[in-house]
Amino acid sequence: MKSHSTSFDNIAISNPKLYKAPKASQESRVFPYYAGYSSEFSSNILSTLKPTRNALVFDPWNGSGTTTTSAYSQGFDCIGFDLNPAMVLVAKARLLSPLERPSLISIAKSLIDQSQLSIGALTISDGEPLLKWFNTGSTVALRNLETRINNLLISNGTYIQLNNNKAMDQVSSLAAFFYVALFRTTRKLLLDFIPSNPTWVKQPKTKLNRKRPSQSTIYTVFLDEIRSLSLLYGLNDFKSREADSTVCLKIGNAENIALNNESVDAIISSPPYCTRIDYAVSTAIELAVIRCEQSDFDTLRRGLTGTSTVQRIAPTLESKWGSTCALFLERLYNHQSHASKGYYFKNHLQYFSSLSRSIEEISRILKHGSPCFLVVQDSHYKEVHNDVPTIVTEMASHSGLTIVRRDDFKASRSMVDVNLKSKKYLNTRNTTESVLCFQKN
Ligand SMILES: C[S@@+](CC[C@H](N)C(=O)[O-])C[C@H]1O[C@@H](n2cnc3c(N)ncnc32)[C@H](O)[C@@H]1O
Repeated sequence: MKSHSTSFDNIAISNPKLYKAPKASQESRVFPYYAGYSSEFSSNILSTLKPTRNALVFDPWNGSGTTTTSAYSQGFDCIGFDLNPAMVLVAKARLLSPLERPSLISIAKSLIDQSQLSIGALTISDGEPLLKWFNTGSTVALRNLETRINNLLISNGTYIQLNNNKAMDQVSSLAAFFYVALFRTTRKLLLDFIPSNPTWVKQPKTKLNRKRPSQSTIYTVFLDEIRSLSLLYGLNDFKSREADSTVCLKIGNAENIALNNESVDAIISSPPYCTRIDYAVSTAIELAVIRCEQSDFDTLRRGLTGTSTVQRIAPTLESKWGSTCALFLERLYNHQSHASKGYYFKNHLQYFSSLSRSIEEISRILKHGSPCFLVVQDSHYKEVHNDVPTIVTEMASHSGLTIVRRDDFKASRSMVDVNLKSKKYLNTRNTTESVLCFQKN
């Protein structure tokens, strides 16, 4: 890819928001990840960057894998990292070849048959995360189905926990597809616990309020999900692709990217929002399905950029974060409202520290002259504007990334809207989603 000769003005940048995408393409999503951007957005950019052999596209916050799916289907080599193993599975599932479609139902039926045969043999541990929502009988049935997927399609008989890259490397798109079908099944069975805020899952107040779907209901919902998912394969996300392009999807930290210096030709990504939306909490169901017990869940949650948790010792403000960030943090610190000097100050220091480290890493791995597109949303702390796009631009400039183009899209709906308490300070939020295009110096 001759990225340095690309004219950035000619690149087609569409509104990244998913709800702006045509309805058909929203319906064709394998997993309803609220944090994603539309595949039209990443595909449009990629179609104006001409792929040459071995051109490598990377997304350090790959989420549901929109960038990697678009890149792979356009013949680019691609790599996507995300710290959340559940999202790595979703990104893998999106790469399932349409050629696998005819066998999906028969594989599902054989998973169900094997589950029925082995249901009595399974014991569940005290730390079993599904017990938060389901009674013991339903938990056993779901766990049994999950164990069959793992044994039959990944581990050849000996269960492997999908919390590390050695295990993740063994997961084919086909195995990931069945995990995603089970994610969707579990989510559907828990609909009563999912509020309109997509980033939260309620828990039953007492054991008696736990869900108790029968084994046969679980199998019926699972088969229904397989049927609706298999209809999606063949739609726009899954076009035929270059036979020789490669894809690598792993658990990885954007603050410490496991790639060589100057090895990447283009980045398209969206860092976590600065709205205290907890990405681990929003995927608590999926993490429970892959047996992420409480202590691992807490560790993952604390490690994610944008977490609502705070460490005992916060990072200190650094001049390389830029003047806009420093001014915002000063105004936040001096705000009259409760905990501004404590929790909120620390929480924002953490966010900016993580963002700054990630941007340094992005710059390190990009080839000279190569482009990096970041979708970034501004937000507010009470009435104080948090101009994340400008802050990211200043951080990037400090790391050797020059801003060459910025496209702003007014968003009438944003992740901040899900935090109703924030409305006390502003009646109408004018949120802007910015697509920042950088070039590595
Ligand atoms: C805004 S979402 C990206 C959505 C993605 N563009 C899509 O279309 O689905 C940000 C993602 O960053 C991940 N994340 C948060 N902190 C991370 C970190 N330090 N390293 C890698 N991924 C991280 C979250 O799990 C989340 O999936």
